[in-house]
Amino acid sequence: MSELLDFRGRVAIVTGAGQGMGREHAKMLASRGARVVANDINIERVGETVAEIIAAGGAAVADHNNIVTDSAAIVDAAVEAFGRLDIVVNNAGINAFGRFWEMDEGTWWRVFDVAVKGVVGVSRAAMPHLIASGSGRIINISSNGVMGVPTDSAYNAAKAAIWGLGITLAAEAREVGVQVTTLMPVAWTPMTEDAFPNPVIRDAMRNTVPARAVSAFVTWLAHQDTTMFGGTWEVAGTSAGRIEIAGAPRVRAASPEPESWGALQDQLTEDAPLRPFRTASESFRDQMVFLSPELDTVLPADAADVSR
Ligand SMILES: NC(=O)c1ccc[n+]([C@@H]2O[C@H](COP(=O)([O-])OP(=O)(O)OC[C@H]3O[C@@H](n4cnc5c(N)ncnc54)[C@H](O)[C@@H]3O)[C@@H](O)[C@H]2O)c1
Repeated sequence: MSELLDFRGRVAIVTGAGQGMGREHAKMLASRGARVVANDINIERVGETVAEIIAAGGAAVADHNNIVTDSAAIVDAAVEAFGRLDIVVNNAGINAFGRFWEMDEGTWWRVFDVAVKGVVGVSRAAMPHLIASGSGRIINISSNGVMGVPTDSAYNAAKAAIWGLGITLAAEAREVGVQVTTLMPVAWTPMTEDAFPNPVIRDAMRNTVPARAVSAFVTWLAHQDTTMFGGTWEVAGTSAGRIEIAGAPRVRAASPEPESWGALQDQLTEDAPLRPFRTASESFRDQMVFLSPELDTVLPADAADVSR
């Protein structure tokens, strides 16, 4: 292994650091010299996280503000304790299962809000400090649930929102020197202990995807020398794979009438080589040129970028 990444002088917030992956992220960042604000609504457990960090010679303070209602106070706590803020790991999340149309509405929105409002609130409050840092980092924790898990609609809708937010925020924040990346982790934690009753899956997870392994990827992304302006990765144990939005080849209807589409159902659903789209402009331009090839020489590359 090469030399340890050096985080001395850096300050990090990790939300949901009372257990599971958040605790491991906080411990690993601190083990490399970062001063850490370990946030969790569970006061007792986040106190244990901080005690472990301090016992190992690290620096950390506990914060038990709710990311949904008191996000700015978490950022204030970091600046008050350590004078600056360089890294935010938006990790806290909750889950609850039930059919979409049967689930208690309050529970549905609570799951959604913890994820989305938490990430939005903490990130907005953090941005001025991350810009001032000169190498600010936001790492958002989404989930491969965006790909679909029946009975988990609130969680997956929220994780899709975090993913979508991250794609656009990465492009905006790049202009002010802040890097935003998104992870879809898999790890054996109290959350997965609750979610997977099957003993074969439980054993496989316990043995191959410890929470600490995801922290290694998080910590690498968080480092000031890691240059990664945007991107989404699935991370499980020592494996990682980039996730992209991709489209199958376009098909053309004979006319803009509903009857024309029926003839194309097979083509609309067939497996075909996918093409990644890294920006909305790329996809928009591709659609326009598909319909009118002469537009290829006319449309600017950033055709759908409304900020220009
Ligand atoms: N475990 C997995 O395999 C997996 C898979 C995909 C995504 N994730 C995501 O990774 C993150 C961490 O997952 P985990 O498995 O370690 O979860 P976990 O349930 O073990 O820990 C989450 C922590 O967040 C805290 N928390 C909840 N609501 C909070 C709030 N409002 N304010 C502050 N803290 C709050 C909880 O008290 C808990 O300590 C979550 O966002 C989760 O959705 C996990």
